[in-house]
Amino acid sequence: MSGKINIAIDGHSSCGKGTLAKNIAKELGYIFIDSGAMYRAVTLYMLNTGLDLEEVAQDPAVLGNIKIHFEFNSEKSFYETHLNGTNVEDEIRSMRVSRFVSQVSTLRVVRDFLVIQQQEIGKNKGVVMDGRDIGTVVFPDAELKIFMTASPEIRAKRRYEELIKKGVHVNYQEVLHNIRERDHIDSTRKESPLAKAPDAITLDNSSMTKTEQARLSLSWAKGVIKSRENQ
Ligand code: DC
Repeated sequence: MSGKINIAIDGHSSCGKGTLAKNIAKELGYIFIDSGAMYRAVTLYMLNTGLDLEEVAQDPAVLGNIKIHFEFNSEKSFYETHLNGTNVEDEIRSMRVSRFVSQVSTLRVVRDFLVIQQQEIGKNKGVVMDGRDIGTVVFPDAELKIFMTASPEIRAKRRYEELIKKGVHVNYQEVLHNIRERDHIDSTRKESPLAKAPDAITLDNSSMTKTEQARLSLSWAKGVIKSRENQ
Protein backbone atom coordinates (compact mmCIF):
# COMPACT_ATOMS: atom_id res chain seq x y z
CA MET A 1 0.00 0.00 0.00
CA SER A 2 1.30 3.49 -0.87
CA GLY A 3 0.28 4.93 2.49
CA LYS A 4 -1.39 7.76 0.61
CA ILE A 5 -5.03 8.64 1.09
CA ASN A 6 -7.68 10.44 -0.94
CA ILE A 7 -9.14 13.63 0.46
CA ALA A 8 -12.60 14.80 -0.63
CA ILE A 9 -13.51 18.45 -0.12
CA ASP A 10 -17.10 19.43 -0.81
CA GLY A 11 -19.10 22.48 0.02
CA HIS A 12 -20.97 25.55 -1.08
CA SER A 13 -19.84 27.97 -3.78
CA SER A 14 -17.26 30.59 -2.84
CA CYS A 15 -16.22 28.81 0.33
CA GLY A 16 -12.53 28.63 -0.50
CA LYS A 17 -12.56 24.89 -1.27
CA GLY A 18 -10.04 25.26 -4.09
CA THR A 19 -7.58 27.25 -2.01
CA LEU A 20 -7.77 24.79 0.85
CA ALA A 21 -7.47 21.77 -1.45
CA LYS A 22 -4.46 23.33 -3.18
CA ASN A 23 -2.73 24.09 0.13
CA ILE A 24 -3.27 20.58 1.49
CA ALA A 25 -2.08 18.96 -1.75
CA LYS A 26 1.05 21.11 -1.83
CA GLU A 27 1.92 20.30 1.76
CA LEU A 28 1.39 16.54 1.34
CA GLY A 29 2.87 16.33 -2.18
CA TYR A 30 -0.49 15.12 -3.49
CA ILE A 31 -2.29 15.87 -6.76
CA PHE A 32 -4.96 18.56 -6.56
CA ILE A 33 -7.94 18.19 -8.88
CA ASP A 34 -10.62 20.85 -9.22
CA SER A 35 -13.59 18.77 -10.39
CA GLY A 36 -15.54 21.95 -11.19
CA ALA A 37 -12.91 22.65 -13.87
CA MET A 38 -13.97 19.44 -15.62
CA TYR A 39 -17.63 20.54 -15.69
CA ARG A 40 -16.41 23.88 -17.00
CA ALA A 41 -14.34 22.21 -19.75
CA VAL A 42 -17.37 20.21 -20.96
CA THR A 43 -19.38 23.44 -20.92
CA LEU A 44 -16.73 25.23 -22.99
CA TYR A 45 -16.73 22.39 -25.53
CA MET A 46 -20.52 22.61 -25.84
CA LEU A 47 -20.41 26.38 -26.30
CA ASN A 48 -17.63 26.15 -28.89
CA THR A 49 -19.36 23.44 -30.90
CA GLY A 50 -22.89 24.75 -30.49
CA LEU A 51 -24.18 21.64 -28.72
CA ASP A 52 -27.21 22.22 -26.53
CA LEU A 53 -28.33 20.36 -23.40
CA GLU A 54 -30.94 18.30 -25.19
CA GLU A 55 -28.55 17.12 -27.91
CA VAL A 56 -26.07 15.89 -25.32
CA ALA A 57 -28.77 14.23 -23.21
CA GLN A 58 -30.10 12.41 -26.26
CA ASP A 59 -26.75 11.46 -27.78
CA PRO A 60 -24.21 11.06 -24.95
CA ALA A 61 -21.75 9.54 -27.46
CA VAL A 62 -20.79 13.10 -28.47
CA LEU A 63 -19.04 13.37 -25.11
CA GLY A 64 -16.51 10.88 -26.44
CA ASN A 65 -14.98 13.75 -28.44
CA ILE A 66 -14.05 15.54 -25.22
CA LYS A 67 -10.60 14.79 -23.83
CA ILE A 68 -9.75 16.54 -20.58
CA HIS A 69 -6.41 16.29 -18.85
CA PHE A 70 -4.46 18.26 -16.28
CA GLU A 71 -0.86 19.45 -16.63
CA PHE A 72 1.25 20.70 -13.78
CA ASN A 73 2.44 24.29 -14.16
CA SER A 74 5.48 24.44 -11.88
CA GLU A 75 5.61 28.25 -11.93
CA LYS A 76 2.09 28.49 -10.56
CA SER A 77 2.33 25.25 -8.58
CA PHE A 78 -1.00 24.35 -10.11
CA TYR A 79 -2.58 21.71 -12.33
CA GLU A 80 -4.01 23.46 -15.38
CA THR A 81 -6.98 22.17 -17.35
CA HIS A 82 -6.49 21.10 -20.96
CA LEU A 83 -9.33 20.41 -23.38
CA ASN A 84 -8.49 18.37 -26.49
CA GLY A 85 -4.85 19.33 -26.16
CA THR A 86 -5.36 23.07 -25.55
CA ASN A 87 -4.76 24.85 -22.26
CA VAL A 88 -8.19 26.29 -21.35
CA GLU A 89 -7.47 27.23 -17.73
CA ASP A 90 -8.38 30.91 -18.23
CA GLU A 91 -11.21 30.38 -20.69
CA ILE A 92 -13.14 28.02 -18.43
CA ARG A 93 -13.31 30.77 -15.75
CA SER A 94 -14.97 33.26 -18.13
CA MET A 95 -18.49 34.54 -17.49
CA ARG A 96 -19.61 32.85 -20.72
CA VAL A 97 -18.80 29.47 -19.17
CA SER A 98 -19.88 30.39 -15.62
CA ARG A 99 -23.37 31.31 -16.83
CA PHE A 100 -23.97 27.91 -18.47
CA VAL A 101 -22.01 25.47 -16.30
CA SER A 102 -24.64 24.96 -13.59
CA GLN A 103 -27.13 23.78 -16.23
CA VAL A 104 -24.58 21.48 -17.85
CA SER A 105 -23.73 19.97 -14.48
CA THR A 106 -27.36 18.91 -13.95
CA LEU A 107 -27.11 16.45 -16.91
CA ARG A 108 -26.86 12.84 -15.76
CA VAL A 109 -24.84 11.84 -18.84
CA VAL A 110 -22.25 14.54 -18.21
CA ARG A 111 -21.94 13.56 -14.55
CA ASP A 112 -21.50 9.88 -15.43
CA PHE A 113 -18.88 10.77 -18.04
CA LEU A 114 -16.85 12.87 -15.60
CA VAL A 115 -17.25 10.74 -12.46
CA ILE A 116 -15.62 7.76 -14.23
CA GLN A 117 -12.60 9.93 -15.09
CA GLN A 118 -12.41 11.40 -11.59
CA GLN A 119 -12.45 7.92 -10.07
CA GLU A 120 -9.69 6.84 -12.46
CA ILE A 121 -7.52 9.80 -11.34
CA GLY A 122 -8.03 8.77 -7.70
CA LYS A 123 -7.47 5.06 -8.05
CA ASN A 124 -3.82 5.18 -6.93
CA LYS A 125 -4.61 7.54 -4.02
CA GLY A 126 -2.70 10.72 -3.20
CA VAL A 127 -5.43 12.99 -4.60
CA VAL A 128 -7.15 15.99 -3.06
CA MET A 129 -10.30 16.69 -5.07
CA ASP A 130 -12.78 19.47 -4.46
CA GLY A 131 -16.35 19.73 -5.74
CA ARG A 132 -19.92 19.08 -4.70
CA ASP A 133 -20.24 15.27 -4.81
CA ILE A 134 -16.72 14.05 -4.14
CA GLY A 135 -17.34 12.52 -0.70
CA THR A 136 -20.79 11.22 -1.64
CA VAL A 137 -20.42 9.92 -5.22
CA VAL A 138 -16.88 10.15 -6.62
CA PHE A 139 -14.85 8.87 -3.65
CA PRO A 140 -17.38 7.46 -1.17
CA ASP A 141 -14.41 5.58 0.36
CA ALA A 142 -12.15 8.64 0.71
CA GLU A 143 -10.15 8.33 3.91
CA LEU A 144 -10.79 11.99 4.77
CA LYS A 145 -13.87 13.98 3.81
CA ILE A 146 -14.26 17.66 4.59
CA PHE A 147 -17.50 19.56 4.12
CA MET A 148 -16.85 23.29 3.97
CA THR A 149 -19.32 25.95 4.73
CA ALA A 150 -19.60 29.59 5.81
CA SER A 151 -22.55 31.92 6.08
CA PRO A 152 -23.84 33.29 2.73
CA GLU A 153 -23.12 36.84 3.97
CA ILE A 154 -19.48 36.06 4.73
CA ARG A 155 -18.99 34.26 1.42
CA ALA A 156 -20.62 37.16 -0.43
CA LYS A 157 -18.38 39.66 1.38
CA ARG A 158 -15.23 37.69 0.44
CA ARG A 159 -16.34 37.28 -3.18
CA TYR A 160 -17.35 40.95 -3.39
CA GLU A 161 -13.96 42.10 -2.11
CA GLU A 162 -12.17 39.75 -4.51
CA LEU A 163 -14.11 41.13 -7.49
CA ILE A 164 -13.62 44.77 -6.45
CA LYS A 165 -9.88 44.10 -6.11
CA LYS A 166 -9.90 42.78 -9.69
CA GLY A 167 -11.61 45.99 -10.81
CA VAL A 168 -14.99 44.35 -11.51
CA HIS A 169 -17.97 46.63 -10.77
CA VAL A 170 -20.51 44.75 -8.66
CA ASN A 171 -22.73 45.48 -5.74
CA TYR A 172 -22.74 43.43 -2.58
CA GLN A 173 -26.48 42.61 -2.67
CA GLU A 174 -26.11 41.27 -6.20
CA VAL A 175 -23.25 38.98 -5.15
CA LEU A 176 -25.19 37.78 -2.10
CA HIS A 177 -28.25 37.06 -4.25
CA ASN A 178 -26.12 35.05 -6.71
CA ILE A 179 -24.56 32.99 -3.91
CA ARG A 180 -27.97 32.19 -2.40
CA GLU A 181 -29.28 31.22 -5.80
CA ARG A 182 -26.33 28.92 -6.53
CA ASP A 183 -26.65 27.30 -3.07
CA HIS A 184 -30.27 26.59 -3.90
CA ILE A 185 -29.55 25.12 -7.36
CA ASP A 186 -26.62 23.01 -6.09
CA SER A 187 -28.51 21.61 -3.11
CA THR A 188 -31.85 20.92 -4.77
CA ARG A 189 -30.87 19.55 -8.19
CA LYS A 190 -32.01 16.00 -8.92
CA GLU A 191 -28.64 14.57 -9.92
CA SER A 192 -25.99 14.34 -7.17
CA PRO A 193 -27.06 17.41 -5.18
CA LEU A 194 -24.56 19.04 -2.87
CA ALA A 195 -24.79 17.09 0.37
CA LYS A 196 -22.58 16.38 3.33
CA ALA A 197 -21.46 12.74 3.45
CA PRO A 198 -22.40 11.21 6.81
CA ASP A 199 -18.72 10.62 7.61
CA ALA A 200 -17.50 14.08 6.55
CA ILE A 201 -16.08 16.59 9.01
CA THR A 202 -17.74 20.00 8.80
CA LEU A 203 -15.38 22.92 8.49
CA ASP A 204 -17.21 26.20 9.04
CA ASN A 205 -14.64 28.78 8.06
CA SER A 206 -16.79 31.86 8.73
CA SER A 207 -14.26 33.20 11.18
CA MET A 208 -11.08 31.41 10.18
CA THR A 209 -8.10 32.56 8.13
CA LYS A 210 -6.81 30.50 5.20
CA THR A 211 -3.77 29.52 7.25
CA GLU A 212 -5.90 28.34 10.16
CA GLN A 213 -8.07 26.24 7.84
CA ALA A 214 -5.04 24.67 6.16
CA ARG A 215 -3.37 23.93 9.50
CA LEU A 216 -6.47 22.29 10.95
CA SER A 217 -7.21 20.23 7.83
CA LEU A 218 -3.60 19.11 7.57
CA SER A 219 -3.70 17.95 11.17
CA TRP A 220 -6.76 15.83 10.28
CA ALA A 221 -5.04 14.44 7.18
CA LYS A 222 -1.82 13.64 9.01
CA GLY A 223 -3.83 11.98 11.79
CA VAL A 224 -5.56 9.70 9.27
CA ILE A 225 -2.30 8.88 7.47
CA LYS A 226 -0.58 8.07 10.77
CA SER A 227 -3.38 5.88 12.06
CA ARG A 228 -3.26 3.87 8.83
CA GLU A 229 0.50 3.43 9.13
CA ASN A 230 0.02 2.03 12.63
CA GLN A 231 -2.58 -0.49 11.53
O1 DC B 1 -16.56 24.76 -8.30
P1 DC B 1 -17.03 25.54 -9.52
O2 DC B 1 -17.86 26.75 -9.19
O3 DC B 1 -15.93 25.85 -10.48
O4 DC B 1 -18.00 24.53 -10.26
C1 DC B 1 -18.60 24.85 -11.48
C2 DC B 1 -19.97 24.20 -11.57
O5 DC B 1 -19.87 22.78 -11.62
C3 DC B 1 -20.92 24.53 -10.43
O6 DC B 1 -22.12 24.98 -11.00
C4 DC B 1 -21.18 23.23 -9.70
C5 DC B 1 -20.73 22.19 -10.68
N1 DC B 1 -20.00 21.10 -10.04
C6 DC B 1 -20.69 19.94 -9.79
O7 DC B 1 -21.89 19.86 -10.08
N2 DC B 1 -20.05 18.88 -9.24
C7 DC B 1 -18.76 18.95 -8.92
N3 DC B 1 -18.14 17.90 -8.39
C8 DC B 1 -18.04 20.15 -9.15
C9 DC B 1 -18.71 21.22 -9.71
